[in-house]
Amino acid sequence: MTAVAAGAGRTGAAVAVPGQIAIRPMTAADVAEVAALEAVTFSMPWSENSFAEALKREDALFLVARGEALLGYAGVSLALDEGEITNVAVAEGARRRGVARRLLETLTVRLLERGIRQIFLEVRVSNTPAIRLYESLGFVIAGTRRRFYERPVEDAYVMACEPAVSYGEKGSLSLQ
Ligand SMILES: CC(C)(COP(=O)(O)OP(=O)(O)OC[C@H]1O[C@@H](n2cnc3c(N)ncnc32)[C@H](O)[C@@H]1OP(=O)(O)O)[C@@H](O)C(=O)NCCC(=O)NCCS
Repeated sequence: MTAVAAGAGRTGAAVAVPGQIAIRPMTAADVAEVAALEAVTFSMPWSENSFAEALKREDALFLVARGEALLGYAGVSLALDEGEITNVAVAEGARRRGVARRLLETLTVRLLERGIRQIFLEVRVSNTPAIRLYESLGFVIAGTRRRFYERPVEDAYVMACEPAVSYGEKGSLSLQ
């Protein structure tokens, strides 16, 4: 995952979080807003073109959370039965309201439906909010990558999760 910008996200402070949050696949129409949130969140942001190209890939899956405006997004890259979460961000004014949790739970169910059984990601060792989020979803620290990040240089934790599932009466998947 890309690096978190120092003091990032301050321009997103006024996002209203409605009672109803829609989680749905990212489309080309979302890309400009997603890239704008990415730019205020990370020190080495993906460009608008990077997101547009990612949406064309069959081995990638990107979701957005929307109220009246974009609240957040998450993306994963797939390889065999593994998924690597490459992007997670929530607008600063929408944080601590369960948006990232909803995005990642929905992403996980989609991954399970596609046969993915292991999910991993990298996170800055200082990024306590993200580490707590991933731990709350069942991820554990599996290792450390020295000096993985730039701007500023920092180690990454590799976190991994093998999500457990249950099947509803109609065969629908949900997380346990
Ligand atoms: C990390 C981030 C995505 C969390 O998004 P969020 O929508 O605020 O997270 P949620 O509200 O879904 O939080 C779910 C759980 O994560 C943990 N958590 C989230 N933010 C936290 C914080 N600031 N401090 C401690 N724990 C936190 C808590 O366990 C929380 O559950 P709780 O609110 O019931 O205690 C958001 O802070 C963000 O966009 N940060 C900048 C970008 C970033 O770091 N992305 C990850 C890169 S690896």
